[in-house]
Amino acid sequence: MSATRVCALSDLEQDTALRVEVDGVAIAVVLDASGEVHAIGDTCTHGDISLAEGFVDGDTLECWAHGSAFSLRTGKPLNLPAYEPVPVFEVTIDGDDVLIDPNVKKDI
Ligand code: FES
Repeated sequence: MSATRVCALSDLEQDTALRVEVDGVAIAVVLDASGEVHAIGDTCTHGDISLAEGFVDGDTLECWAHGSAFSLRTGKPLNLPAYEPVPVFEVTIDGDDVLIDPNVKKDI
């Protein structure tokens, strides 16, 4: 499968996560304060919680349930209780389109 358009760049609010689903894979898409777009697995590895419902702080996305903050760059949780990383996906920007291939994970 190739990259799929998940939203428009203009749909993204700075420092707010948007949950999208591609090919059955839930992904949290975040436009950070520096204008970079990130895509990480949306399901917290500690519980069945959508990370997109959490809080963006710099280059982390914090789960609202118990406070684990996941790096938007590496997918790794920076604090307990979560200890397993979420996947990080390659993002392609084409004009105003945000494209993600859920099968292409970033090499961290
Ligand atoms: S469910 Fe996310 S930190 Fe517990």
